[in-house]
Amino acid sequence: MHMSEVFRAEVIRVLTVDDVRVEVPSGATVVAALVIAGKLRTRRSVTRQPRFALCGIGQCQECRVTIDGKPHQLACRTICKDGMVVVTGGRA
Ligand code: FES
Repeated sequence: MHMSEVFRAEVIRVLTVDDVRVEVPSGATVVAALVIAGKLRTRRSVTRQPRFALCGIGQCQECRVTIDGKPHQLACRTICKDGMVVVTGGRA
């Protein structure tokens, strides 16, 4: 087996990030989808400062986004699903 086959995703998930269609390999987190979509801002702080994922392990809370209408979801702890709708830029 060639190494390129090892890293080729068998299943692709399709979702939207701020109305941008994004394809990610199965098992990818929403943070990965944000990066692929070029959305390097998850939300704004109470002082309107832009924020993005920092720790990647569910501790810092900086990666909160709205997923399928539910606000304050952790992008780093959420696996992408087909048809998922992610919205960034919320205030928290
Ligand atoms: S990146 Fe820190 S909680 Fe998600």
